[in-house]
Amino acid sequence: MLYKNPRGIACSKCHGLKGEGGKKIAKYYDKHQNIKLLRSSDIRGYSLKELTDSLSNHYRENGRRKRHKIMPVYYMTKEEILAIYTYLKSNREKR
Ligand code: HEC
Repeated sequence: MLYKNPRGIACSKCHGLKGEGGKKIAKYYDKHQNIKLLRSSDIRGYSLKELTDSLSNHYRENGRRKRHKIMPVYYMTKEEILAIYTYLKSNREKR
């Protein structure tokens, strides 16, 4: 339930119903006027630690703190994140 409707903005809207990714998020034009499509990634393989970092919006890239550019910030409790993690993990195992 949290995965599908956390604070009104569903993870599934961008990451797919099961976290499988591949959903179209946005269309944009690059500097050569070519049309580009932004698609989401598969998020079923992340560890609980990675998921927690990602959802607290201070995940690391190349050792540096980075903010999400597109994904919204959610203020979730540990229990809520654990619930989402468990849901994604069960989808991974069903593959
Ligand atoms: C508006 C679309 C959108 C929504 C809604 C969204 N995401 Fe994301 N997510 C993204 C994008 C885009 C990225 C790639 C990083 C970036 O630029 O934000 C991403 C990256 C991730 C990653 C990869 C690790 C990382 O931090 O880059 C995880 C895990 C993730 N999202 C989980 C979730 C969960 C769980 C939810 C629901 C609570 C959620 N996302 C909701 C768009 C979204």
